[in-house]
Amino acid sequence: MEVSSPQGNREPPPFSVRPMTGADLEAVVVIESENPSPWTAGQLASERDQDGGWQFVAEADASGLVCGFVCGRSCVGESELLKIAVSREYRRQGIAVQLVAHALHYVAAQGGGCCFLELRAANIPALALYERFGFRRVGRRKNYYASPTEDAILMEKVVLPGN
Ligand SMILES: CC(C)(COP(=O)(O)OP(=O)(O)OC[C@H]1O[C@@H](n2cnc3c(N)ncnc32)[C@H](O)[C@@H]1OP(=O)(O)O)[C@@H](O)C(=O)NCCC(=O)NCCS
Repeated sequence: MEVSSPQGNREPPPFSVRPMTGADLEAVVVIESENPSPWTAGQLASERDQDGGWQFVAEADASGLVCGFVCGRSCVGESELLKIAVSREYRRQGIAVQLVAHALHYVAAQGGGCCFLELRAANIPALALYERFGFRRVGRRKNYYASPTEDAILMEKVVLPGN
């Protein structure tokens, strides 16, 4: 399988990734609200109805608490990773790595293809995360984001088909 978690030999953290359900939305909205340009509850909910949409959450095995999520869309060989966020108090524990790995496995199982994403140019944690997975920078959109105004960096990765 071409898509693997780049965690090396580290012990996997005690979190599991599973598909998002309607019951997770409340927790996901809270996580999303901690970040710049957050999606509203309505936007997050409607994402679940999109053709080719996929949404996963990370939950703590011990408590069942939802502490991160990722969502995107896939259509005829192209995918876009639209959002990923981890609750502030759970960051730097490898949760985003698990979420991205899960999303890329899903895309591979759907037939793979090019996976795109965009992020704020100053978002060093996200840049480092995506580069670990082999995403490469392919463009920049000047002043793309508002509040605060900031360039967007566009990244892509070719995901091979797999199971
Ligand atoms: C980006 C984000 C999802 C990372 O979540 P996380 O669970 O803390 O990330 P992980 O613990 O899995 O870290 C994976 C790697 O990402 C990079 N990374 C994560 N946080 C970082 C930070 N604060 N500074 C530098 N690199 C960082 C590192 O390469 C890290 O690997 P390492 O811990 O072995 O050094 C999280 O910071 C977040 O929710 N940010 C706000 C929302 C956001 O910016 N989303 C992306 C928008 S496109």
